[in-house]
Amino acid sequence: MKHAAVIGTGSCLPARVLSNHDLEKIVDTSNEWITSRTGIATRRIAAPDQTTHQLATEAAKKALSMAGVEASDLDLIVVASVSPEMIMPSCACFVQDSLGAVNAFAYDINAACSGFLFGMDLVDKYIAARPEMKILLIGAERLSARVNWRDRNTCILFGDGAGACVLAAGNGTSGIVDSNLFSDGSLWSLLYMNGPRNLNPELQLEQPDDCYIRMMGRDVFKYAVRAMEEAVVGLLRRHEKTVDDVKLVIPHQANIRILHKLMERLNLSEDKVFVNVSKYGNTSAASIPIALDEANRANLLTPGDLLLFCSFGGGFTWGSMLMHW
Ligand code: ACO
Repeated sequence: MKHAAVIGTGSCLPARVLSNHDLEKIVDTSNEWITSRTGIATRRIAAPDQTTHQLATEAAKKALSMAGVEASDLDLIVVASVSPEMIMPSCACFVQDSLGAVNAFAYDINAACSGFLFGMDLVDKYIAARPEMKILLIGAERLSARVNWRDRNTCILFGDGAGACVLAAGNGTSGIVDSNLFSDGSLWSLLYMNGPRNLNPELQLEQPDDCYIRMMGRDVFKYAVRAMEEAVVGLLRRHEKTVDDVKLVIPHQANIRILHKLMERLNLSEDKVFVNVSKYGNTSAASIPIALDEANRANLLTPGDLLLFCSFGGGFTWGSMLMHW
C-alpha cells in the first residue's frame, strides 16, 4: 500500500512582529512573566487586510515551487484552521481560487491545534486509495482576530501564520508510517472559541467577549503533557521503536514548558526536538507545518530520517505520527 510523502514545504509569517514588551503596553503583563511561563518572545500579527487564505496561499506557493508541482496538477486542497475569514466558503476554496488550482476539490477541517496532524492522516488515506493524487495540505491561522486583547491569560500566547505541504505517494522508503489520533469532546469547555459574529478585524474589540478563545490554562497544560506522552509512547510501541530511532521530533509549538515536560517524560534530549515557539508563539494548526518547513529549509532533514510529530489542542484533540522523510 502506498503512503503519503511530503515533496514540498512552505510557510508564510506576517511581517509585523509583536514583542512581549509591546504586550506590556496592551495588558498588565511583563516580558519576564511571559518568557518564564511560555518561552515566547515574539509572535507575528497579520496586517488588518491580510486574511487567513492569503497567508495560506503564500505558504502554498512556496511548497508548490519546492515540489515542482503546478497548481493545476493538484487534485485536492485541505486547509486546517480554527480562524478562517469566513465559515462559508471554506478557506480551502479561497486558496483554490487564488492559486488557480482548477482541477482540485477543496475543503477545510477543524481539529484545532491538531488540525495539521489530523489532515496528514486524512491525506495518507487518500493516497492509499488513489496513489496518483497530488494533495496540498495547509495549516493556516489568523488568531489575532480571535483572541481577546484585554485578556492577558490568552492574548500573550497566540500568533498568526501558515505552513503548507505538497504530498504525493512515497517512493517506498519515504512517507507516513502510522498515526495515533484521539479526541475527547467531554473536555471541550477547558479550551474553546464561540463563532465570530463580526468578521471585520478593525472591529474586534467591539465584539462580545464570548467570541474569543477561552482557556483554563492549568488544566490544558496538565492534559496536554499527559496526552501527548501517551500518544507518542503508544505509537512507538506499536512499531517496536524507541525515541532513539527517531531523528527529529516536530511537536505542536504550544509553549516551552509543555515541551520541556514532554522531553523529560519521553527522555528526549533538547537537540532532538525542533522548537521555534519563542519566535512565533502558538499558531495552532499552522505550528507543525511552519516548523517542518523551517527544519526542511535549514537542511535538518535527510531522506529516510524517521520523524515524529505530536500535537494537542481544543476539542480536546491530540495525537502523534511517524513519517520517513
Ligand atoms: N502576565 C502576568 N500575569 C499573568 C498573566 C500574564 N500574561 N496571565 C496570567 N497571569 C497571572 C494570573 O492572573 C494569576 O494571578 P493570581 O495568582 O493573582 O490569580 C497568575 O498569573 C498565575 O496564573 P496561572 O494561570 O495559574 O499561571 P500558570 O503558571 O498556569 O501559567 C499559562 C499560565 C502560561 C497559560 C499555563 O497555564 C500554560 O502554559 N497552559 C497551557 C496553555 C496553552 O499552551 N494553551 C494553548 C492552547 S492548547 C495547546 O496549544 C496545547
